[in-house]
Amino acid sequence: MASKVAFVTGAGSGIGRATAQLFASRDYAVALVDVSEKGLQETEASIQSAGGTAAYFVCDVSDDMSVAAAVTGAVARFGKIDAAFNAAGIDGEAGKLTAEQSLENWHRVIGIDLTGIFHCMRHLIPVMLANGGGAIVNCASSAGVRGAAYCGAYSAAKHGVVGLTKTTALEYGAQGIRINAVCPGMIKTPMTQTGPMKELIDSMVLTTPLGRLGEPEEIGAAVMWLCGPDATFVHGQAIVVDGAITSR
Ligand SMILES: NC(=O)c1ccc[n+]([C@@H]2O[C@H](COP(=O)([O-])OP(=O)(O)OC[C@H]3O[C@@H](n4cnc5c(N)ncnc54)[C@H](O)[C@@H]3O)[C@@H](O)[C@H]2O)c1
Repeated sequence: MASKVAFVTGAGSGIGRATAQLFASRDYAVALVDVSEKGLQETEASIQSAGGTAAYFVCDVSDDMSVAAAVTGAVARFGKIDAAFNAAGIDGEAGKLTAEQSLENWHRVIGIDLTGIFHCMRHLIPVMLANGGGAIVNCASSAGVRGAAYCGAYSAAKHGVVGLTKTTALEYGAQGIRINAVCPGMIKTPMTQTGPMKELIDSMVLTTPLGRLGEPEEIGAAVMWLCGPDATFVHGQAIVVDGAITSR
C-alpha cells in the first residue's frame, strides 16, 4: 500500500494535470482519471519520468458506473484514497447568451461539471470513511461565487458545486473527511486558450488586477494546502484563487 494516495479527475490536462504532478512531487501515489486516454498517458509519463508513482483510469465523470469503476480501480491499485481533487470539467457553449445556449448544452455541462462531482463524491466518501477520513477538494470557479455573463450553464453548475461542497462538509466533517472547493479565476489551460471563451478572456486579461492569467500550478498549490497538514481546520470553504477578479 502506498503511504499517501491522491485521486485526481481531469488529470489529462490543465489544472488537473498540474495538481496531479504536485501530488506526485509530494510523495502521493496518484490515480489519474479523465475521459481522454491520450491526456492521461501524457500525465502518467510526466509523473513517472520524474520518479513519481501514478496509474490512470479512463472515466467519464458524467457516468456513475464509470466513476464507480475508476474509484474501485484506484483502491485496487493503491489500497486507499487519502485526498481527492475533482477537477474534470467543460465550459460547453460558453460565449453565448444564456437563452441562446442549447438544451443539450445545459444537460451536458450540468452532467459533467455538477453531477460529475456528485458521482465522484458518492463513491469517494465511503472509501474515505472506511479509511478513517480524508480530504476532498472540488473544482468550482470564480463563476461559482458570482454571476458570469455568457456562461449560464457553467455558472449554474459551479454554484451547485459550491453548495454541494458546503452541504457535504456539514455531513461528513465529524467523520474525518474535510471537504472544500477551490474557485479558480482565469487560468492558462486549454479551456481558456483554445475554447470558445478565448477571445473574451484575452480581452479581459489586462483588466484583471494582476494583469495576467493564472498558471495551473497556482491552483494546484491551493489544493496542496487544502489537502495538507496546514489546513486541518479549513472545511466547507470555497477558496477563490483568481488574482482578485472577483474583488471588483
Ligand atoms: N481554466 C480556467 O480558467 C478555469 C477557471 C475556473 C474553473 N476552471 C475549472 O477547472 C477545471 C479544470 O479545467 P482546465 O482549465 O484545466 O480545463 P482543461 O480543458 O485543460 O481540462 C479539463 C479536463 O477535464 C477532462 N474532462 C472533460 N469532460 C470529462 C468527463 N466527462 N469525464 C472525465 N474527464 C473529463 C478533459 O478531458 C480535460 O482533460 C474544470 O472543472 C474547470 O471548470 C477552470
